[in-house]
Amino acid sequence: MMKELCILLALVGETLCLGAATDDKMDSFVSSLMKKMTLREKIGQLNLQPAGNITTGGAMDTEVGGLVMKGELGAILNQTGKDEIRAIQEVAVKRSRLGIPLLVGLDVIHGYKTILPIPLAQACSWDIPAIEGGARIAAEECSSDGISWTYSPMVDIALDARWGRIMEGSGEDPYLGSLIAAALVRGYQGDFKERHNIMACLKHYALYGAAEAGRDYNTVDMSRWRMFNQYMPPYEAAVRAGVGSVMTSFNIVDGQHATANPWLLQEVLRRKWGFEGFVVTDYASITEMTSWGFGSQKENGIKALKAGTDMDMCAQAFLHHCEAAVSEGLLTEQDIDQACRRVLEAKYKLGLFKDPYKHCDMSDKEQAQHIFTPEHRRAARDLAAETFVLLKNDGGVLPLKKQGKVALIGPNADTTDGLLGSWCVVRPQRDAYPSLLGAMKEYLQGQAEMLYAQGCNLTDDERQDKAGFANAPYRTVPRVDSHQALAEAMQVAAQADVIVYAGGEGAEWSGESHSRADLSLPECQKKLLAALQSLGKPLVMLNFSGRPTAMGWEKEHLPVLMNVWFGGTETGPALCDVLFGDKSPSGHLTVSLPQTTGQEPLYYNHLNTGRPVRDDDDTFRQYQSNYFEVSNGPAFPFGFGLTYTTFRYGEMKVEQDGRNVTASVSVSNTGESEAAEVVQCYIRDVACRYARPVRELKGFERITLRPGQTQTVSIRLTEQELGSYDAEGNLFFEPGEFDIMMGGNSRDVQTKRITVK
Ligand code: BGC
Repeated sequence: MMKELCILLALVGETLCLGAATDDKMDSFVSSLMKKMTLREKIGQLNLQPAGNITTGGAMDTEVGGLVMKGELGAILNQTGKDEIRAIQEVAVKRSRLGIPLLVGLDVIHGYKTILPIPLAQACSWDIPAIEGGARIAAEECSSDGISWTYSPMVDIALDARWGRIMEGSGEDPYLGSLIAAALVRGYQGDFKERHNIMACLKHYALYGAAEAGRDYNTVDMSRWRMFNQYMPPYEAAVRAGVGSVMTSFNIVDGQHATANPWLLQEVLRRKWGFEGFVVTDYASITEMTSWGFGSQKENGIKALKAGTDMDMCAQAFLHHCEAAVSEGLLTEQDIDQACRRVLEAKYKLGLFKDPYKHCDMSDKEQAQHIFTPEHRRAARDLAAETFVLLKNDGGVLPLKKQGKVALIGPNADTTDGLLGSWCVVRPQRDAYPSLLGAMKEYLQGQAEMLYAQGCNLTDDERQDKAGFANAPYRTVPRVDSHQALAEAMQVAAQADVIVYAGGEGAEWSGESHSRADLSLPECQKKLLAALQSLGKPLVMLNFSGRPTAMGWEKEHLPVLMNVWFGGTETGPALCDVLFGDKSPSGHLTVSLPQTTGQEPLYYNHLNTGRPVRDDDDTFRQYQSNYFEVSNGPAFPFGFGLTYTTFRYGEMKVEQDGRNVTASVSVSNTGESEAAEVVQCYIRDVACRYARPVRELKGFERITLRPGQTQTVSIRLTEQELGSYDAEGNLFFEPGEFDIMMGGNSRDVQTKRITVK
């Protein structure tokens, strides 16, 4: 009776303060709730655990159910299914003393059931509204299935393509990364008022993308000047966009673990950027701190909480040690209160006190109107089509004609799972969406004949193959006998008018714990491609990848090359749209594609050094900053992407109004197809008290032009864009000379030097 009264009071309290959820109302609601809580219950709110396998009948009897009933769990992760989630939420609301609802988290990284292109691919669209729309779709789908909190956006800048998690971010540029970070936050969270708004979680704070040698979970160390200029802007942008939660990273920053780093969590995140949400650790980070050599779990739990971490994912360090730490005087009750308040506020903002079941109360019929719907799949198809980056199109082979015999060959040609990429915790049934082969057959029905052969394995290297699929839900591509498969492919190709090769990486070769030391195409694929090419027929290579592939060989040997990443459930139809010219390709790289792995980390916005060599200079120069074997530049530069038409850039104009600079250029479509161009603006600060990169993206516009159409693009630059950060993270502007550049990629630009006083 007592318990039910308390639930009622909590809910009535909320109902009374519904109106506008002002901060004051939230404060008083949370304060009055916290007055009722024991220290143990407050600590319970800071505990986040995997749900295990909740069933609708037995939620109470699970380990997690036990914790929930005792008020020792504030949030769960990795549970899917609205009915199961409702079952555990009911335990929290009806069976725990105060009835505080759980926060239900999941890694919804690029879609829920409608799988969108991997985030790195999405970035290559440079289409910020479409990316925001994608996050809205993901939120609508997962919030219709019980999820209220996603561990996204991942905004780690990654400069080293060996790191498998480069696929989860937006690439190497902090400016573009910041725009995307903010867009994703807006897409997920909205204003928290709609039913489908969920809480976003910015991760991994901070610098996880700088793991040494691209090896996952490895050491990170860099100057504060570098972090503020190259790595921090997307985190800051997400915070300023109002992200509700932040996840710490697995790495150290300045020699201290990111999870117990007061400078990162208090000084920068809260004081400098004004973050008001709660901070959660990454998976068992507090436990891992012992392996790093930071002491016992108890010590690390205390350090983490004191530093500003509010919620403990999977280590149970807070639950096991905080109470004792308070009685021993190692923590104060205020330390616990502060963290508990932040977690309760998040639940309040999400409206969970008002309706704990808001994300898990739909009927199956109603749910079906929100998940994997034709509208969502259409949007995913449109977005996917914008992510493919056409790198070479010698002889104008693309677009293909919808006639004759088309041979589709390669390990990624007839896989459905293999189109999705890493991080799809929930995915549709395999037969609910087509493979590329399935999509092409349907698309070309009655117009052209489709032929198919797998042709080869993704790799013949068994160690790599085993590792690649180590924690995949299932094998995405069957293993075949190499000799036989090659012979079959040649037979098939011999009958064809045109050959489309679908290869590259396996969908599970990138993502967490998937670092690679060799970024080139596996030998067996090169062998097949060379054999196919010897037939002298038009050959199109589609490179599937979750990271930049080392493209030296492909660039030299293959006439037609398109990087297609992993495009999600609608990859097949989207590729048909682009291959056969219903749409023109419009993706532009947001990562540099190296010539060879040894160039990594490779990024366009590097410093000049005191001994610079031009990116395209092939001659080895003694005592200059270069390599024996290759020039410094990438195979394909940041910002690069071809299409089916040609664009002519007029002469760039640069106007100044005090310290405000406007760069303008007219762009004309001089070809025969409608197509989009990403007009990019870069700057270089020629002389400054801190070193500045040779090029920094500071603005862009994605425009679509019909044949013959001309449009002028103007980019406005202020002190903010012209300035940079000092070692304390303060933006400063230094008058002087600047190079202003505009063009269709970071290499081919027009430049004007100006003086800004
Ligand atoms: C990853 C996070 C993820 C978490 C929860 C960790 O291993 O680093 O990005 O959100 O697991 O699944």
